[in-house]
Order: sequence, then C-alpha cells, then structure tokens
Amino acid sequence: MPLDIVVGAQWGDEGKGRVVDLLASHADFVCRYNGGDNAGHTVTVEDRTFKLHLIPSGIIHPNTVGVIGNGVVVNPTVLLEEIENLRSSGIEVNPERLRLSHAAHLITPAHLALDKAQESARGQDKIGTTLRGIGPAYTSKVARQGIRLTTLLDSQAISEAIQNHVRFVNQQLKAYAAEQLDPKIVAREFGEYAQKLAPYIGDISILLAEALSRGRKVLAEGAQGTLLDLDHGTYPYVTSSYPTAAGALIGLGVGVGCVERVIGVTKAFQTRVGSGPFPTELQGEIATRLRGTGENPWDEFGTTTGRPRRVGWLDLPLLRYAVRINGLTELALTKLDILTSIDPLRICSSYQRDAKTYLEPPYGLGDLSGFEPVYEELPGWQADVRNAQTWEDLPSEARAYILHIEELSGIPVRLISVGPERNQVVEIS
Ligand code: IMP
Repeated sequence: MPLDIVVGAQWGDEGKGRVVDLLASHADFVCRYNGGDNAGHTVTVEDRTFKLHLIPSGIIHPNTVGVIGNGVVVNPTVLLEEIENLRSSGIEVNPERLRLSHAAHLITPAHLALDKAQESARGQDKIGTTLRGIGPAYTSKVARQGIRLTTLLDSQAISEAIQNHVRFVNQQLKAYAAEQLDPKIVAREFGEYAQKLAPYIGDISILLAEALSRGRKVLAEGAQGTLLDLDHGTYPYVTSSYPTAAGALIGLGVGVGCVERVIGVTKAFQTRVGSGPFPTELQGEIATRLRGTGENPWDEFGTTTGRPRRVGWLDLPLLRYAVRINGLTELALTKLDILTSIDPLRICSSYQRDAKTYLEPPYGLGDLSGFEPVYEELPGWQADVRNAQTWEDLPSEARAYILHIEELSGIPVRLISVGPERNQVVEIS
C-alpha cells in the first residue's frame, strides 16, 4: 500500500512543489495534510509559473486528484480564488479532481484580524507570521471552538456558527483594541462560499483508504518544514501545525503501515523567513548571491509574503535532526545551481557549545542560540550545472559536495534540482 510523503527538511521553502510536481506524474492522489495558505508552492511548466498556496501542486497533472486533508486550515476566499486562477490557466478543477476533507477547519476573517492584532501586540518578539490567520485558526481547533468544513453543508448551521465565532473573537479583538467585525456580514459571505464548496467536501480518509487498498499511488505533500513543526521546530518561532511526516498520517487519516518513502526536501544551502534562531545565517556578499535580487521567481523572497528570506550555509546538525524526526528514507536536494561559482563552499558539520561537540542539537530546537556552527570547507565549481541530466554531467566538485551531504546525513540523495524548469532535474536511481 504505497503512500509516499514529501516533507520539508528545513524551515519551509525547500522547493517541495518541484519535487511533488515530479513525483505527481506517477501518483493518483496528491494530498496536502497541514498548514493553510501560509504555504507557497511555485511550479514552472514551460512559460507558465503556478503559485499555489492551498491546492496541492499535483493538480497540474491531468490525471491526479488533489486532496486537502483534515489537518489543513482552509480560507475559502483563497481556495475559490485558486480554483478560478487554475481554471483560467487551462487546468480543470471540479469535484472529481479536488476533494476537501469534511474535518478540515475554516479560516475566517476574524482569524486574520486576530493574527494581525496578536503579531503587533508581540512587538519586538513577533514571530513574523504570514498573517494568514493560521495560528488563530488552529487555536480555535484545539480549543474545540473551530468550524469544520462539514458545517458548510448546512446553511442554518454555518450561519449560526460563523456569527457565534465572530462574536467570540470580537471580544479578543476588543482586548487588543483592534477593529471588530460584523457577524452578519461574515455569515452572509460564508453562506455564499458554502454553496460553491459543498460539492467538493467529503470523507477523504475513506477515499484514501480505498485507493490505497486498490494499490493506487498516494503522495502526501507537506507544507512548511520540519524546523517549523509546532512540537519539533524552533518553538515558539514555528507554525501551528505538524509539517513532519507523522503529521501526514494524522492530517489525512491514514494508517502508519501504508508508508513507503519519506522524502526530505532540502536546499543545497539554508533559508528561513520570519524570526527565530538560524545558526549558519550569512550576511554580506555571499548572502546576496544565495538570495538573489528578487527579479526571478526562484529568488529567495517569500511566495506568500514577498519578504526577503534569511540565507546561510547548509546545516547538517539540523538536517540529521530532520532525518531522525521524520524517518526520512532519502533526500531531494534543490537549487544546486545557485552554488555555482561560490568558492570555497561551507557546510556546517557539527555545533560546539561550552567546548563540547554536538552532531545534533540536544533537547530539540527550542534553544539553538548558544550553538556555534563548526564548518568544513569544500571546493566550489565554476561550470554551469543547469543543463545536467545525469550524475556524470555534474562537475566533480558538485558530486563531492553531494556525496559529503549523503555521508553526513546518513541517507541517499535521490534527486537534485539544477534549475527552475521541470526538466532541470538529475534523478539518481
Ligand atoms: P504562520 O504559519 O503564518 O503562523 O507563521 C509562523 C512562522 O512560520 C513564521 O516564521 C513564518 O514565516 C513561517 N512560515 C509559515 N509558512 C511558511 C512557508 O510556507 N514557508 C516558510 N516559512 C513559513
């Protein structure tokens, strides 16, 4: 029963969309299991670039069904916009091609307002959230006050639920001296969404169980990354969901036994958007080289917020941590081409604190600040790698860099992306 899980091995933005796009050509179902429209997946197909926040990027393949699992929080405004945008790019989206879990939770305008009010109240200590209402929506869920998609199927129930919810959040907004919302206006808005989305809603756990039992291929697509996991990330500078592999099982309602591959996606360097620790962070010229200037869609500027990403050298203690926490079976290494002509390259192979060496940060990632990265230097390469199609096409220094990552992480690199286009990938069997 083959379920493959694609997880971000870093702080998100690793290029999971690319990897999912590639694997989706062999998949029957591609499923989002966590997060909401805080994610941003960019997929370039010939001259078209798709920026998706919520709908699994696998939907671009004509024979793949996209699934949004119960672990996801759904802003219906964004979902309907994405459906329209895909349609206008010639991608068919209908209730046969896109399924939404009845148990996924709604993000409402009240959640958005609360995210904004809470972030500004945090001042200097702000998390740097995407302001998409993610934290407040998951807070409603765990407080057992959330509204599930299934409520959209009953017009009376959704109207009442939304009005009660807005009244409740208004009390909190008042405490932050933030503007309050009109419960009736929001309820009317959600009444319209309900009519549009109702045909897409169903029990996706059963759908996937049946598919898996018939041997169909299911791909689970994580949003964000391991280091942003609510429990296993750099708390409190994390998101409010479970991007790690275990999150796929809960977030889709599938059993442990069906998992085959757990593919960790990592850039050939390290990036982070938002606040929080980042031991190998760089400033200056190399940082600018890694980040790009923002003129290309693949430069290191947030897909969702447009914020410049923080950049640094690849951090192996954190990658080893991701291997362990997720049970990764292999790595997909993205953006190798960006390292071309940076010489020498550095990899952080361990940390030092109080004269002790650490191969992984102890006690999880809550307190990373005191760790000093220990670097190894590797020779860079000058040759353009963007046309490489096979392992042999890569310069020997690039191969040495990748082999060293395999050695230090303990798992094989099976896929290397060398450019933004669909075919700029080296697969290693
Ligand atoms: P939230 O998920 O909007 O609450 O933001 C919490 C933290 O996760 C912030 O540091 C965000 O920058 C980060 N974050 C959320 N989604 C993504 C993503 O898709 N890529 C990278 N960082 C993200």
